[in-house]
Amino acid sequence: QIPDGSGNTLTVLEYEGRLYPDFDLKAIKGALTFEARPDDVVVCAYPKSGTHWVWEMVRLLLAGTTDVPVVEKDDGMIEFILPEELEKLPSPRALNIHYPFEFLSKSFFTNRSKFVYISRDPRDVAVSYFHHHRKLVQYYKYKGQWQDYLPLFLEGNVDYESWFSYTKSWEEGIAQNLDQPIYVTSYEAMHEDTLGQLRKMAQFLGTRHDDEFLQQVIDKCSFDNMRATKGKNEVFEGSNSPIMYRKGKVGDWKNNFTVAQSERFNEIFEKQMAGTKAHTLYSQ
Ligand code: A3P
Repeated sequence: QIPDGSGNTLTVLEYEGRLYPDFDLKAIKGALTFEARPDDVVVCAYPKSGTHWVWEMVRLLLAGTTDVPVVEKDDGMIEFILPEELEKLPSPRALNIHYPFEFLSKSFFTNRSKFVYISRDPRDVAVSYFHHHRKLVQYYKYKGQWQDYLPLFLEGNVDYESWFSYTKSWEEGIAQNLDQPIYVTSYEAMHEDTLGQLRKMAQFLGTRHDDEFLQQVIDKCSFDNMRATKGKNEVFEGSNSPIMYRKGKVGDWKNNFTVAQSERFNEIFEKQMAGTKAHTLYSQ
């Protein structure tokens, strides 16, 4: 139970000194020693960075058709699904994981599995994660307010811990593992030029990449379509609106941060992220 200083607590799972969501421990542990395959494609991101969006696109690219139902369950989320279930998925598997780079299973590296890494403006991540923590009652049981939540996020007192540490771990991991196939993108780039990003991603994956098909993928994975199809299957206790498909916009933080919160954020961001790629992307 993590107290937010206002009488509310956030429930997480602690394992070997690290904070995870309160999922089945067998799945959390299984992810650390996951048995990868060479044709696995793994979408890697800090939570709320557009994982579901890009994961669905990868799934359709790998299928080579949009004529498949939008996946209803998070059946490729490595730390949520039991290892024996993941083992049953047919190749090539479209998977996702939120672990920092140094906690990835060695098997990804010996098998040279492909990674698609997504970053997102941490201020938008914070707002999105706040709603996630409030709405996903089943796991988090959190009833706090934004002003009390933001410090928890900034201090990394949430499941998957600090956005700053996570992002630095990935930037270092990418720089030090040049042999590993990693496609690097961002939520903002996906918004700004979805077709351009998808062309590059399809080339990277070696899948079908004619523009007509890619446009179909974009349409099928539009926010509205995913919210209407996948979102309606999110039947979580205590929530009556989709959690994973909330607004789907860039810059929503501006509607949520006060001037003081923004200043506090900038202070921490400068201290933590100076000299990083994320600093170049998100210092405005
Ligand atoms: P918001 O809460 O800002 O709306 P994740 O999948 O990593 O949990 O990320 C969730 C965020 O991605 C949410 O952000 C969600 O609305 C947004 N998102 C989900 N599907 C999307 C889509 N098809 N297009 C754009 N954004 C999407």
